[in-house]
Amino acid sequence: MARLSDEIIEEIREHSDIVELISEYVPLKKQGKNYAGLCPFHEEKKPSFSVSPQRQIFHCFGCGAGGNIFKFLMEYQKMSFLDAVRFLAERANITLPARERSGGDRSEYEPLYGANHLAAAHYYQQLQENVDAEKARRYLEERGFSDHIVELFRLGYAPPGWDGLINRARRRGISPEILSRAGLVLKREYGEGYYDRFRDRLIFPITNLSGKFIGFGGRVLEDTDEVKYINSPETPIYQKGKVLYGLQQASASIRQTGRAVIVEGYTDLLSLVQAGVENVVASLGTALTHQQARLLSRYAKEAIVLYDADTAGMAAAERGADTLLGAGLSVRVLSLPSGMDPDQAVRQKGPEYIIAELDRAETFLDFKFRHLLQRHDNTSISARAEVIEALGRSIAMVSDPIKRGLYIGEIAERLRVAEELVALSVDRAAPRPRGKRKAEVTVGEMVKGDAELLEREILALLLQNPLTIQDWKKKMFPEDFAHPDHRRIVERLLSLDEHIPKTSADLLNVLSDLDLDPLVSQLCFMDREGETTRLLDDYARKLKNNRLLREERELREQLRQAEQAGDQARVDHLTQQIREIAQKRFRSASAATS
Ligand code: CTP
Ligand code: MN
Repeated sequence: MARLSDEIIEEIREHSDIVELISEYVPLKKQGKNYAGLCPFHEEKKPSFSVSPQRQIFHCFGCGAGGNIFKFLMEYQKMSFLDAVRFLAERANITLPARERSGGDRSEYEPLYGANHLAAAHYYQQLQENVDAEKARRYLEERGFSDHIVELFRLGYAPPGWDGLINRARRRGISPEILSRAGLVLKREYGEGYYDRFRDRLIFPITNLSGKFIGFGGRVLEDTDEVKYINSPETPIYQKGKVLYGLQQASASIRQTGRAVIVEGYTDLLSLVQAGVENVVASLGTALTHQQARLLSRYAKEAIVLYDADTAGMAAAERGADTLLGAGLSVRVLSLPSGMDPDQAVRQKGPEYIIAELDRAETFLDFKFRHLLQRHDNTSISARAEVIEALGRSIAMVSDPIKRGLYIGEIAERLRVAEELVALSVDRAAPRPRGKRKAEVTVGEMVKGDAELLEREILALLLQNPLTIQDWKKKMFPEDFAHPDHRRIVERLLSLDEHIPKTSADLLNVLSDLDLDPLVSQLCFMDREGETTRLLDDYARKLKNNRLLREERELREQLRQAEQAGDQARVDHLTQQIREIAQKRFRSASAATS
């Protein structure tokens, strides 16, 4: 696919206004130089979301979301980068090169969406019309799934043949190679060609948030020794850890109620929706990921984990609860009667039962307590210690210090132990530098902290004054930076050759694949414009000095080990090296004062 030139992308950005665009979605108020509002990417009561008209960048000081106008559309509207560019080009009346405008390859992933779209339509039509699909229709009826559910989730049927989809696609001009990239067909082991992945299976299509089909699950109709479900593999448009099944259909209801129910399986979800519980998503059998939890936290305040009542399900629920807590959600857990899954519970006990149980679901703390106290008797010292440690691991996931404090208080009260003890177990699980008292900070850490502050200053200058990147090239090197993220940004900036963007907002495009937009946008909000030349030499020297200090510390550590080992030759060698570094540091310091 032809790439749009940086110049055109920059022109489009220049003719768009980020404040104007974001205002269409988020109410913004002028506050000093910037505009502030409630962050659309996480739940908050006080505005920590800031938009800079001058820099054309947004940043949330609460959740870290940030970037330029393209990034906002990508995150908020789930557009691809190219779709965001096209959208803004149209608004700004800028004509893109003909091939980029429409039709053909609208985006690099368009063929994959096209293939999945065709497949979904094909399977859906087969379920409705194919004579062979009678048994699939009967299966759905027996399980009690209504036509409305079939329609809403576009359920389908893949007939038994080896090339039904391949032939259908070919007639539509979609090649088996594209189908293969979309995970819909497999290469024959012997001989040429491909065959359909899904055969004689009930089909559950998986959509992204804009309703585009990105993958499929296929279930056998009879419980034979065939594997029960087969699923699309990961593809460029389907990353399992980032997707929640049913979120597209559930999002409105989740936003409205502030609450989401999480189940494991396709049929669990469908049964709940049919029972009238619309705010439900499925993690599809895998362990709930942080990305899935964060995704959910954009819509819900509270999550109710409703997993199968078997050993695997309960273990998954415990881990899932921690992950959801880590995304800032309140968590409750509903435990079903032993051996049941949510689909069976709805069918055997009725919709009223499950709806009432969801309201009664226990808090995650109750759930944890119950399970921990089942495993440990809570009388011996070591059992009590075990319980406190396990709870500490969960609470360590909670990032909001107020909530963390409240949880610690409640646990201490229930276990009748001092709060400090619980706090200690939380700290052990995830030491937080913020919580540390001054005296506990070691000298080494102080050097490190200062070094990182300096690096941030320098990066802020660089990012806000891109025209000076050329000058920096001669004065500093990526190795001078201690923090790995800082180093990656510098590496990229110093490697820019023919085209160096002129503004911070445009630099963000060049840096976007580093996945560091939260850091970059934060640095851009530090307001260091125009200070650069005066400080450059001073900063470059301090930076080098910090690197020498780090090297010297490392060598001293090696020296200590060599001395312990009694390796005299190595001791001499290291001593010599340390002396040389000290001289270098001395030289650069005296150069500064002369
Ligand atoms: N799963 C899978 N592959 C399998 C088994 C399970 O991908 N071989 C995933 C599916 O997403 C499934 C979920 O894990 O929906 C839960 O599995 P399970 O509880 O075994 O299936 P159910 O959802 O209960 O399906 P059914 O009610 O149709 O038996
Ligand atoms: Mn089931």
